[in-house]
Amino acid sequence: MSAFQKPTTKTPIQIQTVNPTKSDLMDVASLRNNCTSPLQMIENQLRQKQLKSQIPKSQSIFNGMKIGIIVGGAIASITFLNNDGGTSLSEAFQTFLVVTLAVGGMLSINNLSGKNVFVYTEKEAINRLTVDNVPFLKSGDDLGFCVRLSSSSKSTNNERYSGTNGAVACMDGQLRNTSPDYISKYPFASSKQYGRLPSHFHLKNMLVDDQMRRQGIAYQLLDHVEKYVKQNTDADLLTLEVEDSNTGAISLYEKFGFVEGDTMGADRDYGSRFYVTGRTFMIKKI
Ligand SMILES: CC(C)(COP(=O)(O)OP(=O)(O)OC[C@H]1O[C@@H](n2cnc3c(N)ncnc32)[C@H](O)[C@@H]1OP(=O)(O)O)[C@@H](O)C(=O)NCCC(=O)NCCS
Repeated sequence: MSAFQKPTTKTPIQIQTVNPTKSDLMDVASLRNNCTSPLQMIENQLRQKQLKSQIPKSQSIFNGMKIGIIVGGAIASITFLNNDGGTSLSEAFQTFLVVTLAVGGMLSINNLSGKNVFVYTEKEAINRLTVDNVPFLKSGDDLGFCVRLSSSSKSTNNERYSGTNGAVACMDGQLRNTSPDYISKYPFASSKQYGRLPSHFHLKNMLVDDQMRRQGIAYQLLDHVEKYVKQNTDADLLTLEVEDSNTGAISLYEKFGFVEGDTMGADRDYGSRFYVTGRTFMIKKI
């Protein structure tokens, strides 16, 4: 079998640690939000609202009633068929009418009022993105890494990555079971004990945007993180958890040198397959 060739990326990139006090944080959050920044979220909603206001009233009523008819028809049929002849056809029809009018009417009114298009303020959009995508990066409990297109490749991918300022991939990690020196030195060092494992950097939330995959970006990111951890911490291992069904990611990790590892008593924290089925705990000595 031939040895795995370390992939070289076709697109020039640069990798940096995420500074939680700068716009880096929102770039990573936007990347995880399908490359949509808070301002783009607001623009999308305004566009949706505008499109909605262009729908004729009759269409809004028709759309609501259509769902009412489907729900009414389904409930009336189930009552009629499940009742061993106890429900007559006319009773079933009455059920159909009542449900259709109630459900269809409510939905039509809702469609007309347009209340289901809620537009965020910028503060709300930022808050939503932070809570959903970068809470531990913001608090400093995790250290983030971000891959950006280098300026030469930015222009060709301008549109998709305009909301992420060129960010196309990211990953977070936390330093665990480290010595007291590092706990006091780094906010991303956990004070919690994870089994009997030596000091290790636990990787989380690896993502390469789906339009940039299979170009060696994840491999380069892992390489960068490994070097960073070696230089800046006392960690002996990189660790991670991966869904057993995520065969693509497992293949990447194996190629990078990860093997299935012993959680050494930290099963609960790592949700390893010894504790929760369907996930594998992997380690790489560094
Ligand atoms: C898994 C993921 C991070 C891989 O990113 P990527 O940049 O495409 O990976 P790379 O190009 O660096 O892959 C390097 C090698 O890993 C292997 N690999 C990567 N993705 C693979 C896939 N989907 N299927 C099979 N092998 C794969 C290949 O051997 C690849 O080399 P090759 O392209 O020359 O064959 C990306 O698909 C992704 O973001 N997936 C969604 C999120 C996710 O699953 N994250 C992991 C959570 S644990």
